[in-house]
Amino acid sequence: MKTYQYPNSSKMMEKAKQFIPSGIPGHQGVASFMPLEHYPIFSDHAEGTYFWDVDGNKFLDFMCGYGPNILGYNDPDVNKAAMEQMKKEDCVSQPSTKMIELAELLVNTIDTADWAFFAKNGGDVTSLALLVAKAATGRQKIVLINHSYHGVAPWAQSPGAADGMFNKEQEDLIYIDWNSVEQLEQAIAENPGQIAGFISTPYYQPALMRNELPAADYWSRVRDICTKNGIVLILDDVRCGFRLDMAGSDRYYGFNADLVCMCKSLANGYNISTLMGIESLKEACEKVYFTGSYWLSAVPMAASIACINKLKAMNAPERLLKLGKMYTDGLEKLAVRYGYRMEVSAEPSLFYLFLLQDPAAQSWDLFGPDGELHRAWIGENVRRGVFLTNYHNQFINCAMTEDDIKFALEVADEAFHAVKDRF
Ligand SMILES: Cc1ncc(COP(=O)(O)O)c(C=O)c1O
Repeated sequence: MKTYQYPNSSKMMEKAKQFIPSGIPGHQGVASFMPLEHYPIFSDHAEGTYFWDVDGNKFLDFMCGYGPNILGYNDPDVNKAAMEQMKKEDCVSQPSTKMIELAELLVNTIDTADWAFFAKNGGDVTSLALLVAKAATGRQKIVLINHSYHGVAPWAQSPGAADGMFNKEQEDLIYIDWNSVEQLEQAIAENPGQIAGFISTPYYQPALMRNELPAADYWSRVRDICTKNGIVLILDDVRCGFRLDMAGSDRYYGFNADLVCMCKSLANGYNISTLMGIESLKEACEKVYFTGSYWLSAVPMAASIACINKLKAMNAPERLLKLGKMYTDGLEKLAVRYGYRMEVSAEPSLFYLFLLQDPAAQSWDLFGPDGELHRAWIGENVRRGVFLTNYHNQFINCAMTEDDIKFALEVADEAFHAVKDRF
């Protein structure tokens, strides 16, 4: 199998760095955690589950635009709905009634939702969720999970980030460990009557670390504690949304959140996010002044309606979970054949991989010797047309087929071959 080269991408990155800080902002830029020498930097076009880079290399894309690609790039039904709306209007002085149609559809889709508010990014609605919790309770403190990611607003930056630049915004945050009901109880005992909300993803998705599912009774106990103490339970479903359950990832794990944040899978790449909530929090949401220049645009709303209806019709989460399981089971078996152990954490529709060198090893270190093996193996996949990253969840989309998974496993086999003499 031929391995890819990226001369045009490299040239374009040099130019990008001249005009844009980091070349690309965020984790794909010069400060990337990825072994960038193995990666195409710029994409040219995309279709279904594939994208083609500026050197003409084709990739089977397990990153799905970091989540938004849930139906397949360029989905004809979503694009048709968006284009029809575009011909009518998009960003106008007053909103289109598409907004009401979408809110009603979400209320009829997401178990917890009695209302929906729209914004653009996941970080808009996680920030709004905190404000709604504060407005509803008159309290200031928020409990969250160590190493969690909820966006880039000042409150959501890593503690101690950028030389303490964000300390003020973080004063009212209380960090606890994942799956620790005891630490949640302790935080409440130490801050009586002061905690407005608890925010978490449905399962543990820390940056750069193995993921972890909730313990069997975790969410029911958290739900009870929040109810008993008047704390707003906020589910950050920005990443998992519609990849576990069309009714919300809280239903998947058998509980009901008070507020649910969604973004990535809402409109197959059209830019929209939503905060949804229970009836009793609607008034608090009305009290918070929160909006933006493009937040009422009708095109992403029309796209979202088409996207959600299509996902529902094909029972998308079931399909995504099944394909993800086929791939990750295959990887685990292949790894054993080469004397390695592939650790698969998280749910199969947005799985997290880590390749351990020693089958008996218990260690896990992205920056240690296993990290080197893992980076090299991921790089060999990318160079053969299977786009994975070494530090983040991967995602499945509905345009992927079993033949795609078979191809990805053939490439994985070659990638094991390529690294086995070096490690
Ligand atoms: C769990 C979670 N919350 C919030 C966000 C922030 O979303 P956005 O990047 O759209 O602001 C992300 C983005 O990756 C996320 O994964």
